Amino acid sequence: MLDEAGASEQQATGESPQRSRVGLLIDVTGDHFTARLDSVKDSDAPASHQRSLGQVGSYFLVREGDANILVMVERSYRIADKQGRAAHMVHLTPLGEMGSKGDFSRGVSRYPISGAELHRMDEDGLRAIFSGYGDKDFKVGNLTSFESIGVHLDASAFFGRHAAILGQSGAGKSWTVTSLVQAAVRAMPNAHIILLDMHGEYGDKDVDGVVAHSPFPADKVRCFRADQLEFPYWLLAFSELCELVVNSGDEHASIQISFLRSTMIRLREEANKHLDLGHITVDSPLYYSMDDLIKAVKEANRETSDFGKKKSALYGKFDQVLVRLNSLLNDNRYDFLMRPKTRTSTESLPGLMQDLVGLGSPRASVTVLDLSSVPFDVVPLVAAQIGRLTYEFNYWNPRCREFPLFLICEEAHEYIPREDIPRFREARRSMERISKNGRKYGVGLCVVSQRPHDVSETVLAQCSSYVCLRISNPDDQDYVRAMVPDAARGTFAALTSLSKGEAVALGEAVPMPVRFRVDLPDPPPNSTDINYSEKWRTDATVDVARLVHNWHKQER
Ligand SMILES: Nc1ncnc2c1ncn2[C@@H]1O[C@H](COP(=O)(O)OP(=O)(O)OP(=O)(O)O)[C@@H](O)[C@H]1O
Ligand SMILES: [Mg+2]
Repeated sequence: MLDEAGASEQQATGESPQRSRVGLLIDVTGDHFTARLDSVKDSDAPASHQRSLGQVGSYFLVREGDANILVMVERSYRIADKQGRAAHMVHLTPLGEMGSKGDFSRGVSRYPISGAELHRMDEDGLRAIFSGYGDKDFKVGNLTSFESIGVHLDASAFFGRHAAILGQSGAGKSWTVTSLVQAAVRAMPNAHIILLDMHGEYGDKDVDGVVAHSPFPADKVRCFRADQLEFPYWLLAFSELCELVVNSGDEHASIQISFLRSTMIRLREEANKHLDLGHITVDSPLYYSMDDLIKAVKEANRETSDFGKKKSALYGKFDQVLVRLNSLLNDNRYDFLMRPKTRTSTESLPGLMQDLVGLGSPRASVTVLDLSSVPFDVVPLVAAQIGRLTYEFNYWNPRCREFPLFLICEEAHEYIPREDIPRFREARRSMERISKNGRKYGVGLCVVSQRPHDVSETVLAQCSSYVCLRISNPDDQDYVRAMVPDAARGTFAALTSLSKGEAVALGEAVPMPVRFRVDLPDPPPNSTDINYSEKWRTDATVDVARLVHNWHKQER
């Protein structure tokens, strides 16, 4: 008859302890165990089970007394024993402890000693772990090793404590983002997700009769192009404006900056007298007129005294600033920034903030911001503003805990770089601020990148959940591997062997490091691979005049 401990063991794995034994621990250190698997002859398990035992990434249980420790195979190898027979060895990473009812907790509080038994972890045991963790209805995929077992994420950990979705180009990041957001909106209809779409993959589009729909439910999503939403120049931080109009190599740069600073404060004060705001700083999000600023700069640049006989100290010092301002104003690609049509007063700011977080009309759970037509040199500025507005929204919101937000940054390496480059400094700063302090105010951040090595270390290191798709570049692999906790190293060895849409998830949102196949998004985003093989067999022509027209009009 089974004693009580034996009965609970059976409950945890669904198999009798004798039949499930597969080997013995022979070496135990703080971060990994080594075990020898029983030879087929010694083992009670069927020979067919035995042959596939010990695959890298598979799970076992270490049992000692009433303690059950879940371990994962990190390495599998053979050595010869004293009699010259081959012995099958495995290196194991401890993941956590199983309770008597099949419940799982991370970390190991009591280590086993050498000689402890290694047991098979069967499908039911694993199912119990995965079904007992996370949000039941937030399913994102299925285990690769047991396709019938679903992987559910813990939504509060994933959205609230920042996440990263990493993988090389074409590995399936955009599809994963789509699948995750679709699952999130299904499970949590009142989500508040903002998605920075750098390549027009997630929005509605209709160009020359080529129609593409957003992959998110029509009643849950609002899509804006940058020119529809408008991110006006007056919301730029002072340092961003200087970055845009002052050449730091110009010998007069410091004079220009100090003149701009005092002029902008004055113009802001004048334009907002009616609001009675008291103290105004150079970075206050208050309207001022660009025409007035240019007028002031022009006047200073021509200022003379003594009836035109003497040039003032500022005379001629602003030539380069004026050239830059003029070229920005004359290029219609910058209209959303330099010539806003609707955001022409401080009173228009609430409308912008409402649209950004989905509180506009109609309300939306997902706001897609299509930045594909924004000139690449101002993408970092726009990203910086979106990051800042999202953060400020909840920072100043007394009910921020009731209204948590999540900002997804596609192609994050394009504007949150690792290196300190002046042009990207504000974007980096605003995203790093979310990653450092966002959790307290209910602002979550997700960075999506094909080049993790080039993404700000601060941002990546603050992420508590990682979804890693195929990464074959050694630099990126090493970088990602160095960031993840020790327990996950074994799973990470598999990064190059992942197939399309297959991912390794680790961190707080999953019970343990797990290799899984991401659910197919339905419908997929507009990023499907182009079928060269098919397209190059059929004759196609292109209206080049139309294409050039689109280029001129900046319509994609
Ligand atoms: N879960 C999946 N199952 C099957 N195929 C997938 C899956 N995810 C992606 N794919 C395939 O991979 C292709 C590329 O996916 P996706 O656009 O998501 O890549 P990406 O990682 O975002 O690339 P990039 O870095 O260039 O943006 C898709 O067209 C699709 O055919
Ligand atoms: Mg993509």
